[in-house]
Amino acid sequence: MSIAVYPGSFDPVTNGHIDIVEKSSRLFDKVIIAVVHNVTKKALFTLDERVALIKESTGHLDNVEVDCFSGLLANYLYEKNAGAIIRGLRSISDFEYEMHMAMMNKRLIPEVDTIFIIADTEYVFVSSSGVKEAALLGGDVTSMVPPQVKAGLEQKYRQIRG
Ligand code: PNS
Repeated sequence: MSIAVYPGSFDPVTNGHIDIVEKSSRLFDKVIIAVVHNVTKKALFTLDERVALIKESTGHLDNVEVDCFSGLLANYLYEKNAGAIIRGLRSISDFEYEMHMAMMNKRLIPEVDTIFIIADTEYVFVSSSGVKEAALLGGDVTSMVPPQVKAGLEQKYRQIRG
């Protein structure tokens, strides 16, 4: 069985991520979306909230699971018996960072390859950080995130504004 892991912060998941998941689910028997638990990085959504939002947004895909991990991705890949890491590429500016990460992971776990998937052009500009900033400033992010995420952003920013 071919198993791929799609790791990331997903703070929050965007329609660009969902596009990559849908494409991956057609290429692999099982895709595990692995949300990183990074204690040093301040996230808007908690780990549990990020996992729940992804589950709600990928319920239509039978071979997709949502999980979280902490520590080294290579160890998690080994545990899950994964053969591939999925990463989305939007533009050439993503490439340098992604290439270094792929090479590092290749050295750490040589039996796993990183597969880059190009997002559809309509998602090229969509990033979690851009979506958070736009939503905070009152921009309409309807076309950029799943409806549950839009509602989650509205709720977070209502709490912050008080
Ligand atoms: O969505 P992001 O923030 O670009 O995802 C980055 C992520 C989570 C894939 C990366 O930071 C990661 O793999 N972290 C786990 C720690 C690790 O294994 N580091 C060594 C590989 S460079």
